[in-house]
Formats: sequence, C-alpha cells, structure tokens
Amino acid sequence: SECVSLSPMREAVPAPPECERVCVFGTGDLGLSLGLRLLQAGYRVVFGSRRPRSSLLLHGAQVLGHAAAAQSALLIFIAVQREHYDFLVPLANQLKGKVLVDVSNNLRKNQYPEANAEYLQSLVPGAEVVKGFNTLSAWSLQNGPIDANRQVYICGDSVEAKQVVMAVATKLGLSALDQGSLSVARELEDFPLQLFPQWRLPLRIAIGLSAAFFFYLLIRDIMYAYVTQGEDISFRIMVSLANQVCPIVSLIMLSLCYLPGVLASFLQLYRGTKYRRFPNWLDSWMLCRKQLGLLSLGFAFLHVLYTLILPIRYYLMFWVTEHTVSLIRENRTTTFDTTTAWRGDSYLSLGILGFGLYVLLGITSLPSISNVLSWREFSFIQSKLGHLTLLLCTAHTYLYGWNRFLSSSIYKWYTPPGYMLCLVLPSVVLLLKLLLITPCVDRTITRIRQGWERGADQ
Ligand code: HEM
Repeated sequence: SECVSLSPMREAVPAPPECERVCVFGTGDLGLSLGLRLLQAGYRVVFGSRRPRSSLLLHGAQVLGHAAAAQSALLIFIAVQREHYDFLVPLANQLKGKVLVDVSNNLRKNQYPEANAEYLQSLVPGAEVVKGFNTLSAWSLQNGPIDANRQVYICGDSVEAKQVVMAVATKLGLSALDQGSLSVARELEDFPLQLFPQWRLPLRIAIGLSAAFFFYLLIRDIMYAYVTQGEDISFRIMVSLANQVCPIVSLIMLSLCYLPGVLASFLQLYRGTKYRRFPNWLDSWMLCRKQLGLLSLGFAFLHVLYTLILPIRYYLMFWVTEHTVSLIRENRTTTFDTTTAWRGDSYLSLGILGFGLYVLLGITSLPSISNVLSWREFSFIQSKLGHLTLLLCTAHTYLYGWNRFLSSSIYKWYTPPGYMLCLVLPSVVLLLKLLLITPCVDRTITRIRQGWERGADQ
C-alpha cells in the first residue's frame, strides 16, 4: 500500500516516516468521512470490510478483510452500529493490544444498559478502548474544522491509548479534550443527543408565564370591558396586551435570576457552612441563570420596541385629537400637573436606565466577553449591577403603578392588575438581598464563604 498523495507534485516524494497506518472498520457515512479526513491528514488508511473485494471506497485507501485490516494498524476506528459489534469477538487475537476508538452514538438516552464503549471493551478485553469523536458528524468531518466545532472529547482507561488518539486528532486539526476514564463514555454518548439542555427550563418558564399572564389580562381587561360595558376593545390584544405581558414576564424572570443566589446565601447562613451541597433543584436553577437572564432581556427588548411605537398608534392619535377638539368645542383648558409630569418622567427614566444595565448584563454574559473578564469583574457586573438592574426595573414598575393601588376601581372582578402581581417576586428578592447586605449578616456570610463553619471553632 502507498501513502496518500494529494497532488501530482507529491507523488514522487517517498512516504514520510510518520505516515502511519490507521484502520477504519465500517464503511458508512461516518467511516468514509473519517477515512477521507485521515487520508487528507497524511495517514495511510485501511478499511476493514466483510467483503474486502468490494470496489475501492476512497481513492488512496486500502480495503482488507477485518482480520488482515486489524493486524495492519495499531489504531482502529470502530464506525459500526453497536448492534453489530459482536463481529469483533472472533477477532480477539488480532485486536490484542490495539487501540479501538468507539465513535458511536445512540438514537436516544438510556437505550442500552451500559455505554457502547464499555460494551465494546467487554467484548474485546484485550484491546484498549477509547471513546471519542462521537460529537463530530460526517458533515463536519467533510467540511473540515473551519466550519465545524474543533473540539472533540475522548475518554478511556489507558493513558497511552488516549495519547495515540489525541495525536491523530491533532493531526486532523481537531483539539481533543481528555475527559477521564471509560466510565465517562456514557456522558459523552448522551452529549450529542442534548438539544439546548440549559435553555429548556427557562423556555418553559417563559412560555408558561406568558400564557398565564396573557389569559389573565385577556379576561381582566378585554373580556371585562365586553361583559360589563358591551365594549369591544379586542384590538388591544396586539399592542397593549403584548406590552403588558412582555415587561411582566421580563421582570419576573429577572427576579428568578437573582432568587436562587439569595436562597443559596440564606441556606449557607442557616447551615452555618459552605461545605454542604445545595439541593439539586437549587443547583440546576443556578446553572440556568444565564439563560433566564438572556430570555428576560429578550422580553424587555420587546417591551421597549412596543413602547416606542405607542405614539404612532391610531388609537392614541384618535384620542388625542378627540380630546383636543372637545376642549376647543367646550372652550375648556386643562392645567399642567407637575406631579404627573414627575411621575411619568421618573418611571420612563428608570426604565431606560434599567434597560441600559440590562443590556450590559446580557453582553457580559456572552462567552467572548466574559472570557476576558476576571472572576471579580464578572461577579461585580453580574451580581452588583444585576441587583441594581432589578432595583431600577422594579422602581420603574412601582412608579408606573404610582398610587393606583389605592383606588378600588382598578381591581376589576376583584383581581389586581398585572403589574401589581409581577411586583411581588422582585420585591421579595430585593428585600432578601437588602437583609443579606446589612453589615452583620454580610460579615457572617463572608466568613462562611471563606471557609469558617459555625460550631467548628468552639
Ligand atoms: C410599563 C416604558 C424598560 C417593566 C411601561 C410603560 C411604559 C414603559 C411607557 C407603560 C406601558 C403602558 O402604559 O401600556 C419603558 C421604557 C423602557 C422600559 C421606555 C426602557 C427603554 C423596562 C424594563 C422593565 C420594564 C427594562 C423590566 C423588566 C415594565 C413593567 C411595566 C412597564 C412591568 C408595567 C406593564 C403593565 O402595564 O402591566 N414601561 N419601560 N420596563 N414596564 Fe417599562
């Protein structure tokens, strides 16, 4: 067999000494793409096949029977479905001491009792199995690492075997990350099956809250008007209702971002130590804070856009004209109310400041930005400025509500308006945070975070 030659120029050059032979079992999409990339990287590629006489698969690659192919190389990629692994059992002798790379994936989680790679190892105990490359698709192998993710994960029990695989990955232009022993294989096999895992809960919360508030406000505002006054104001669904649902969901989700941190602090205070694990629900809640925050930023952004178009609504223009004409007709004037002006300007200004900080929080949570921040800078922005954002947005909503909670006419069908409901959670979070930053509590928390334990030093 001869080494691959990419251009006629190189045909004359003898094969470089590092032109190693690599074997690929399996001639499916992935096997072929892998073979192609290996050839391009300068390896000699031998395909192991049940029918070695089948026509040449890839120009420059060799096709041998399984046993002969296995004997020809140290490194063997197993690009075969798990159900067919048992063809390897009779090859135990030829596979002794070889490095087998299990690149397989499953169709769903928990399809088999043990990881494919562990199953492979149990079938061929004499070989060294390395799990890896399973996060790469045939597509990304063919398109090269420029388009696709360069990172591949590997795991295995033999350090030497992993080094062999890593060297090949490097030559293919990939960067392999060693994840540890073969027992991690299951995690690696589940990895490609995940679909935006950290977004799932935040998305559900966003959809759930939006739907709940949409129907609540639909009944309270639009159906109420229809039932009590026979008035059809259903057109309000499009802008007015949306411009209530969006900021309400945004504010609640922003407070959901900061609630777990506050709860965790209280838990540490209560336990008097930082060395006990948080309950699982708190852990997973804390892990999706970034997604919660980014989604709530999206909702805030929609609120700002909806607010910007308020002046060009037909509804508003109609009423302004109507009001002006009626003033003229009745020869009336209205007086300027400074309090109303203060209130309006204040809540708008707080909204704008809150939104500005909100965007800053969103930007600094992007990996390319957060990677260049030190931990101290990151936590300053995400914690201090984060709570300030929550404070500004909550104050914006309180000022918007002003003293209307005092008038009974606002409680249609004995229900409070949406902005009142959405103020509950942020107010609780801010109050708890206020408690936490009082000097004596803060001192205890800081000591606990530094490793001090209650009762340990007595
Ligand atoms: C309500 C403006 C940012 C939360 C309002 C209203 C306006 C407004 C005009 C009254 C809407 C109406 O009467 O239909 C602004 C501007 C902002 C801003 C100009 C920034 C540029 C924010 C942010 C939040 C927020 C970042 C936080 C999530 C709310 C809430 C309401 C509200 C909860 C009450 C909604 C309701 O009517 O039930 N804002 N806002 N706003 N805003 Fe903002």
